[in-house]
Amino acid sequence: MENPEFLLKKNWAISCLEWKLKFIDMELSTKYSRTITQKVESRIKSVESIVRKLQKKGCEATFENALAKCNDIVGIRVVCLYSDDVYKIADLLKQQDDIELIKEKDYIKNPKKSGYQSLHLIVEVPFTYKKAMEKQRVEIQIRTVAMDFWAGVDNQICYKKTEEEVRRAEGELKQYSDVIAQMDKQMLGLRKKVEKIRGF
Ligand code: GTP
Ligand code: MG
Repeated sequence: MENPEFLLKKNWAISCLEWKLKFIDMELSTKYSRTITQKVESRIKSVESIVRKLQKKGCEATFENALAKCNDIVGIRVVCLYSDDVYKIADLLKQQDDIELIKEKDYIKNPKKSGYQSLHLIVEVPFTYKKAMEKQRVEIQIRTVAMDFWAGVDNQICYKKTEEEVRRAEGELKQYSDVIAQMDKQMLGLRKKVEKIRGF
């Protein structure tokens, strides 16, 4: 998995999607006369974390299993200010001819038990290498700054941790997830109010 050809293909998938996301951002920013995307982050999952995931799923840690069972070897995260922008970005991504939507998980409409909120698109992008076409699978997470803040804190203190105190902190963090959902709604409401005043 650290082989240069494997990494080349994964890096290509990242560049291809980052490029598309840049143009989607330009299209939306022009249309709505405001900044849409706050940040885009990309990563290739480490070998250790792929092995851990396969073990957790009860699978042997082989190259084939990694490709078959891990949708998120390549991951891209897009962060924006408002929850309606999440869907605007996702819609434009889904309209791209060369992107195939494999799965959509809407953890904004249906947050996870932990309180995690985000819209996930599992997509495939075609890649031609040595005259052969291969599809590269990518997990795209789209969420607001508030959702990203929550997920960042959760990642540091709770997610995939097992100690007893952590279990207790989870209850509190779940409450903050509700606060964040409420805050996102209020911020969106405020933006719409101002847009109305400005005749948008
Ligand atoms: P993972 O084994 O965690 O990758 O889960 P999965 O492949 O079954 O898919 P799922 O949709 O549950 O999660 C995909 C990704 O979303 C994870 O790798 C995390 O980046 C993120 N995620 C999911 N649940 C949580 C959560 O409760 N807290 C945080 N911080 N991130 C989460
Ligand atoms: Mg994951």
